[in-house]
Amino acid sequence: MQHPFTVTILNWFSVHRRDLPWRGLADPYPIWLSEVILQQTRIRQGLDYWVRFMRRFPTVEALASATEDEVLLLWQGLGYYSRARHLHAAARQIVALGGFPTTYRGIRELKGVGDYTAAAVGSMAFGLPVAAVDGNVFRVLSRVFGIDVPINTTSGKKTFTDLAQRLLPTRRSGDFNQALMDFGAMQCVPSSPHCGDCPLLALCVARQSGRVNELPVKKKTVTVKTRRLQYVYIRCDGQVAIHRRGSGDIWQGLWEPLLLEDAPWPEWEGTLTKMRQNVKHVLTHRILLADFYLLETDVRPSLPDDYIWIDEADMDKYAMPRLVELLLDSL
Ligand code: ADE
Repeated sequence: MQHPFTVTILNWFSVHRRDLPWRGLADPYPIWLSEVILQQTRIRQGLDYWVRFMRRFPTVEALASATEDEVLLLWQGLGYYSRARHLHAAARQIVALGGFPTTYRGIRELKGVGDYTAAAVGSMAFGLPVAAVDGNVFRVLSRVFGIDVPINTTSGKKTFTDLAQRLLPTRRSGDFNQALMDFGAMQCVPSSPHCGDCPLLALCVARQSGRVNELPVKKKTVTVKTRRLQYVYIRCDGQVAIHRRGSGDIWQGLWEPLLLEDAPWPEWEGTLTKMRQNVKHVLTHRILLADFYLLETDVRPSLPDDYIWIDEADMDKYAMPRLVELLLDSL
């Protein structure tokens, strides 16, 4: 017997399901690609990128034969670039395996694939009976079942995953998982959910106990630190100095103009203009505050070894962090 929650959510989905281009495809590649893109990106923005990726790399083999730079460049603007690097590495893993893995464990072994993504791809592409639990699912379940265990704790994750797994209909796992995602994104939204026409109203503990706005509960975490960045765009003879960021820090593999963090300012020939000040950029564990300067000079300043000079017209051939692109707009 299916739980009334499961019956109701599947019925709701049959009427309200979003028309997404990878839904109903049998090929795991486009489905996996959509999940990696949507990991930290809203559907509206992610869709465009999914279409672009599918055009440029219609198969996992095509993606695997690309260079990392090509993939990063096409990813430009989506942020969290480790997703793009993992996507590329995983494409090569899949090709080396001789095909897309078809078990939960096999999918979970791919670079950049966590519990959620493995369950989402496995259920949608292969009908594997595993619940895919994301923020939407936490919210819907915590409200409907009135559960106030914080969602960002180990015990919270376990509570909601176990519950979702019990509610999952074995033969329609892909529909059920996507029904919960759509329901959380369209009906049971974070603020001011549409309780008036909600099909789960009769079941909803949060609604009956007046706790809709208090659920889900999130445990407060430590405050994020601020990091100051000072970029100097050095323009000399139609050329610009850039370098590629190394490992062990944010934005690995991306390019940027001269960055001065705590280093003392050198003496420069030429004209220095402050273009932007205190531009704020929020990452998961840091807030960045950036200043942006333009140095126009006829004398190439000496720079650390890893800097190269490129024609200014070629700037768009180098993948840069979103923040840097934003700063470059002021030129
Ligand atoms: N978010 C991530 N994947 C999704 C999917 N398949 N359907 C709806 N929302 C999603």
